Amino acid sequence: MTNVALVKLPLRHRSGDRPEPANEKIAPVLTSTTTSTTGAPTTIPIAEPWIDDSDVAEVAAAVRTSWGVNAYKYTRLFEADVAERLDRRFALSTCSGSAAIHLAMLAAEIGPGDEVIVPDATWIGSAAPVVWVGATPVFADVEAANGCLSVETIRHLVTPRTKAVVVVDLMGNLPDWDALEAFCKQRGLILIEDAAQAMGAHIEGRMAGSFGHMSIFSFAGNKTITSGEGGVLLTDDPGFYRRAATLRDHGKAPDGLPMYQTEIGQRYRMSDLQGALARAQLRRLDDIVERKREVLGVYRSVLSNVPGLRMNPGYEEDRSVFWMTTAMLEEPLVTRRAELVKRLADAGVSSRPFFYPLSSLPAFAKVPGVAEWAAANRNAHDLHHRGLCLPSGPGTDLAMIRKVAEILRNLAIEMVAE
Ligand SMILES: Cc1ncc(COP(=O)(O)O)c(C=O)c1O
Repeated sequence: MTNVALVKLPLRHRSGDRPEPANEKIAPVLTSTTTSTTGAPTTIPIAEPWIDDSDVAEVAAAVRTSWGVNAYKYTRLFEADVAERLDRRFALSTCSGSAAIHLAMLAAEIGPGDEVIVPDATWIGSAAPVVWVGATPVFADVEAANGCLSVETIRHLVTPRTKAVVVVDLMGNLPDWDALEAFCKQRGLILIEDAAQAMGAHIEGRMAGSFGHMSIFSFAGNKTITSGEGGVLLTDDPGFYRRAATLRDHGKAPDGLPMYQTEIGQRYRMSDLQGALARAQLRRLDDIVERKREVLGVYRSVLSNVPGLRMNPGYEEDRSVFWMTTAMLEEPLVTRRAELVKRLADAGVSSRPFFYPLSSLPAFAKVPGVAEWAAANRNAHDLHHRGLCLPSGPGTDLAMIRKVAEILRNLAIEMVAE
């Protein structure tokens, strides 16, 4: 595997370059109206993309030109760029990350009677496609250190029916991929990397998105880089690529006759407008990741040694993109989390509990064995129970992030003392 060259492009606009708000005192209620790159009149959001003039120009060019014979020009350009950047042979843009996982399941011929191991701590999009293809999800616990699966957390769940494992780079953290790849190879399991939250993370020269038989990203508005909605499926395997491409396009093979469908497929394409935005954002990836690092740095500097909370330990400098800054609450704040969320909201700060363990969701109540996993998966439950996700979008001004951190620090000190 070759090392991936990270190209640094010149900055054009950064939200941090804008004038600071005149009033440097902590305002009782924060709004991001004057400080975000999108200018949306909201309280400080959990995640806000960093959009600049180069993004807007690329989308504008697509709106004007990518029709008729030029249709899908931008999605193809984006596919070539993202495959090169992540050192994969094939990239297939999709309308969402969930659609990309669905295509991966279909391409690997996963279906009724098969079991697929997925982490209990993740967004539902990682696991719903398992059910869509008629297979059974098996919810594994995650490592407390990084929120990801490991060989130790999945080994005992493998049965003769296990066909695949979906490993999630949770919150942009990377697990021990060498060990997971070796284990799945030895057991003959399909390995799918759900890197939806990890664009830009890398480990010893390998980028998130380059692991397993197939990998996916989401480009929803809350992701490190965005296309509004969208996703991509990546693989080095020509067979998986061809199957997924055919099934993405209503059952027409990539080199098939125009308008000629050989089977019933999905309608899962990314639009050119999304492709243009995804491509422009990908060009700025290094700067956006650097901004995420700065956001975490601000939280760390303000929140270290604050009673009642500590920063998520999973964010290792060279293995994470710090997708969403998460405070792990300790007593008494754990018990009073709802009140803390309310008090943050009253101060104009969005926050939210960490993902519910999938095994606890009514959506999966009928999955055989789910009650057993719900009881066993301690780390997934602990993450949900104690995790508080904080505003950490790259589009939010750093001065505003500092104020958010200070508000949280003051509230924590106050509530611990009460
Ligand atoms: C880990 C993970 N997997 C899958 C998805 C699904 O992506 P999308 O929302 O684009 O369908 C998400 C989206 O939040 C995610 O965070």
